Amino acid sequence: MNIEKPVIRPRRLRRTPILRRMVAETAVRPANLVLPAFVREGISEPVPISSMPGVVQHSRESLRKAAAEAAAAGIGGIMLFGVPEKKDAVGSGALDPEGILNVAIADVVSEVGDSLTVMSDLCLDEFTDHGHCGVLTEDGSVDNDATLEIYAQMAIAHAEAGVDMVGPSGMMDGQVAVTRDALDSAGHTDVSILAYSAKYASAFFGPFREAVNSALQGDRRTYQQDPANALEGVREALLDVAEGADIVMVKPGLPYLDVLQRVRESVDVPVAAYNISGEYAMLEAAAANGWIDREPAILETLTAFKRAGADVILTYWATEAAGWLRG
Ligand code: PBG
Repeated sequence: MNIEKPVIRPRRLRRTPILRRMVAETAVRPANLVLPAFVREGISEPVPISSMPGVVQHSRESLRKAAAEAAAAGIGGIMLFGVPEKKDAVGSGALDPEGILNVAIADVVSEVGDSLTVMSDLCLDEFTDHGHCGVLTEDGSVDNDATLEIYAQMAIAHAEAGVDMVGPSGMMDGQVAVTRDALDSAGHTDVSILAYSAKYASAFFGPFREAVNSALQGDRRTYQQDPANALEGVREALLDVAEGADIVMVKPGLPYLDVLQRVRESVDVPVAAYNISGEYAMLEAAAANGWIDREPAILETLTAFKRAGADVILTYWATEAAGWLRG
C-alpha cells in the first residue's frame, strides 16, 4: 500500500456546494425556531437591553409588531416574558388578568391567530420583589408546594388569555403535573405544556436578569440543577413526560449539548433547546468586535442544536435567522 495515495477520500463529498448540500445530515427549518420576547408594563416605546444588543423590552404595541414579523418569517412560535411595573413578595402581577403577561398573551393571540404558536413563561421570578421563581418561607427558602398552587392559577390565567402552550420554568418538583391538572380542571385540555425540564443554575442567564429587571440576590441553586449532573437532567425530563409534558426542554443550550443528546435518546416527545441570553450576548459581543463572523456563527450555532437532537430551538435570532434559512 502506498501511504501517500489514500483510496478512501471523504473529501470527495465535500467538493462542491451542491454536493455538500445533498449529503447534509442536518437542516434547520424556520418552523423549528421560537422567538423569546420580553414585554414591559407601562412603556410606550421599546427599551433596549444593553447586554443583549438588538433585543428590547417591548411595549405592548411593539410586541404585536414583532409577533407579526415572526409569523411572516414562518417561525414556529413566540415565547412571552412579562416585566411588570410593580413586584411583590408573592408575584401578584402574575395572576392579575390585567397583569402585563396576561394582556400581552391576548394581544399577540389577536395579532397572529394560528399563524404562530403563542407560548408563555410560567414562572414567578419576573413578578417577585426578591427575584426567586417561587414564594418564600419565613426562613427565606423557596417553598415548593406553596409555589405550585400559584403556578396552577397562573396556568389558568394564561389559558384564559388564549395561550397555546405554557412553559413552566421554575424547576419546582411536581410543576408539570400541577399545571396539567389545573388546565384540565378548568377545561383547557387543548393547552399544551413545554416543560423546562433540565434547567441548570447557570451563569449564562446573566443578561436575562437585565431583560426582566430582576431583583434577584444570591442564586437559584436549591431548585435549578447543578451543572455537574447529566443523568439528573435525563431524570427530570422523564419525570416531566410522566407528569404530562408535551415537549421537554434543556436549558441553557450550548454548554449542555451532551444533556440535550441524552434527553433526545431517552424520551419519545419532541425536545427543545434554549439558546439563552448569555449565549446570545457572547456571540454578539465577539461579532461587534470583529472577532467572529456573525451570520455563519449564528447558523453554525443553530445547526449544532439540531445535530445534537433538538426538534425545537428557542433563540433570540429566530426571526432574523428564518430569513437566511428560507433563502
Ligand atoms: C425563568 C426563566 C429564566 C430564563 C427563562 N425563564 C431565568 C432563570 O431561570 O434564571 C432565562 C432565559 C435566558 O437567559 O435567555 N423565568
